[in-house]
Amino acid sequence: MGAMTSEEFRRFGHAIVDMVADYRDQVATRPVRATVAPGDIKAMLPAAPPADPEPFAQVLADVERVVMPGLTHWQHPSFFGYFPCNGLPASVLGDYLSTGLGVLGLTWQSSPALSEIEEVTTNWMRQMLGLAEGWHGVIQDTASTSSLLALLCARERTTGFGATRGGLQAEEAPLVVYVSAHSHSSVDKAALLAGFGRAHVRVVAHDATYAMNPEALEAAVQADRTAGLHPCAVVATTGSTSTTACDPLEAIAQVARGHGLWMHVDAAMAGSAMILPECRHLWAGVEHADSLVLNPHKWLGAAFDCSLYCVRDPQHLVRVMSTNPSYLRTAVDDRVTNYRDWGIPLGRRFRALKLWFLMREQGVSGLQARLRRDLDHARWLDAQVRTCPDWYVVAPVPLQTVCVRHIPAGCAGEALDRHTLAWCERVNASGAAYLTPALLDGHWMVRVSIGAEQTERIHVEALWKAMRAAAEQPDAPTA
Ligand SMILES: Cc1ncc(COP(=O)(O)O)c(C=O)c1O
Repeated sequence: MGAMTSEEFRRFGHAIVDMVADYRDQVATRPVRATVAPGDIKAMLPAAPPADPEPFAQVLADVERVVMPGLTHWQHPSFFGYFPCNGLPASVLGDYLSTGLGVLGLTWQSSPALSEIEEVTTNWMRQMLGLAEGWHGVIQDTASTSSLLALLCARERTTGFGATRGGLQAEEAPLVVYVSAHSHSSVDKAALLAGFGRAHVRVVAHDATYAMNPEALEAAVQADRTAGLHPCAVVATTGSTSTTACDPLEAIAQVARGHGLWMHVDAAMAGSAMILPECRHLWAGVEHADSLVLNPHKWLGAAFDCSLYCVRDPQHLVRVMSTNPSYLRTAVDDRVTNYRDWGIPLGRRFRALKLWFLMREQGVSGLQARLRRDLDHARWLDAQVRTCPDWYVVAPVPLQTVCVRHIPAGCAGEALDRHTLAWCERVNASGAAYLTPALLDGHWMVRVSIGAEQTERIHVEALWKAMRAAAEQPDAPTA
C-alpha cells in the first residue's frame, strides 16, 4: 500500500533519465514518423483500469512496447515537419524539477521563487530579444492562450472595460479584428473565443511575399468605420506558419495608431530568431505593438510548454484578468507580482525553471550559435533547390523554412497537387525524414522546417537526396 518509497523513486527516476538520454542518443535510428495505424495503441491497452497495483518496472517496460511505436520523433535530426520544438536537455531537467518540486503559483506567497524567477527570466528574454525596457513578460502554456489574452485585452481597452458592464452584448457597434490569410488558426480561434464573431474577423489581403498589405488594412478599417462598425485590433505575424512570412510591422503600426487599434504580434515560431541582431529587421516596428507572443518551446530550446506573452502595459492586463477573491489576498500584494492576474488559470506551473536552466546552460552565445547554424542550413537548401531543374522555392526564405515544389514538365493544377502530396508521403513513409505539406495560393507545396537540435548539414543533405529520389518515383495511378 502507498506510494513508492524514495529509494524506489530514486531508482526508477534514474532509469527514466537513462531512458531519455538513450532515446535521444539513438533517436536517429528510428523511423521519424510513427509507424502505427489509428487504434493500434489503444488495442494494446486493457479497456479497464488496473484493479490492483502493478510493479513499476512492468509499467516502464511498456514504454518501449506501447509508447515508442506511437511516437513521431520531434527530436529526430531528420524531423523537418511543422516547426522545431526543441527541448534541450538542461530545459528538460528544469521541467522534471518543476514537476518533482510540485509547487504551484497562485499568489507570490504560494511560491515566491516561482514568481521572481519568472520575473527575472522574462526580463532576460526581453533583453535577449532587443526589446525596450517598457515590455513585461509572463509565461503562458501556448501561443494560442497568449493570443486569446491579447484579444481580450484589446476588447476591454476598446470598450472601456465593457466586461464589467454588459459585455460585448451591450456594445452599440460590433468590434472588428483584422488578420491575414496567413495568420495562424489560433488567432482565428482566439477571436471567436473572445466573442468577436466570425462576421467580424476581417481577412486583410497580402502581397506576393505573403505578408499583410498595410494599404489593404487601412482600406478595410475605413470601410468598417463607414459601415458603423468598431475596429478594435490587428494581429500581425512575424514568421507565418506556412512560409515564415513577416508582416510589415512599422506600416501596420501606423494604421493601428491612426485608428486606435490594439496591435498584437504573433511571433510564436520566428520570435526566437530575434535573439540574433541580424534578424531583427524582420520585426522592425515591433516596439509600437501593444502585445506580442513568442514560444521559447519552439525553436529556442525550452521544453514544451513555454510561451512568452509580452505586453507594454501590464496594468491593463492585470485589470482585465484580476479577480482578487479574499482567500488569495496577502499583506505583500502591493509589492509583488501575482501572476494569477496576468493570465487565465489561477494555478501556475513553475515553467520559468526550464527557461532559466536553458538560458544559463546555453548562454546567449550558445543559443545564438545554434539558430545561426539552422539559418545556414536553410540557405544551403534554398540554393540547392533553386539550381536544380524542375524544383522551385515558392516563397522567400527569411528564416529556417524552405517551401518547395517539384514541377515535372507539363504537370500542373490538380495533377501537380497529387504529385506534391505523393512524393512528400513517400519521404514520410520511408521513415528517413518527416515533412509537412501545406496549401499556398490554393495549391500544395512542401515545407522543409529546419531546426531540430540534432539536425546537422548531413541530415539536410540526406533529406534533399531523399526528396529528389521520392519525386522521381512514379506516382500511384489515381482511381
Ligand atoms: C505563427 C504561429 N502562431 C501560433 C502557433 C500556435 O502555437 P501554440 O501551439 O503554442 O498555441 C504556431 C505554431 O503552431 C505558429 O507557428
